[in-house]
Amino acid sequence: MAISPHEQREIEALLRIYPTRRAVALEALKIVQEPKKWVTDEDLRDVAALLEMAPAELDSLATFYSQIFRRPVGEHVIRLCDGVSCWIMGETGLEERLSRLLSIGPGETTPDRRFTWLPVSCLGVCEQAPAIMIDDDLYTRIQPEDLDAILERYAHTGVEK
Ligand code: FES
Repeated sequence: MAISPHEQREIEALLRIYPTRRAVALEALKIVQEPKKWVTDEDLRDVAALLEMAPAELDSLATFYSQIFRRPVGEHVIRLCDGVSCWIMGETGLEERLSRLLSIGPGETTPDRRFTWLPVSCLGVCEQAPAIMIDDDLYTRIQPEDLDAILERYAHTGVEK
């Protein structure tokens, strides 16, 4: 087994609470993702076996959930919304600034593995567009020049908020 006995016990505890095995999928994937920040093929296979699902079915669910990473990501994950509301409110300027500050594009990770930039189609705060999320922190109504200070908070070990 690629997943630890502790992870297995946590998933089995969820199986006793949730109404169906499939309903446990997201939480189970979050549990195995926690230590290394992504879900390997071996992790996925083990979770699928515990949930009595086909690995391919669980993989398609994992791909659907934006919180689950099937490839290694950087220390901090940036989700820049490129949905319609954010685009109208100036997302393009944010994209240009982010690209210049990090020297990467959407879907890429900085060489120092500090940041991964993932595009998302909506962060659910359209009325406060444009929006960006870094890890669990949401920033709204931001201007391109705000990005410098925001990124600086994540540029060193230990996030200052
Ligand atoms: S389109 Fe950006 S938050 Fe909805």
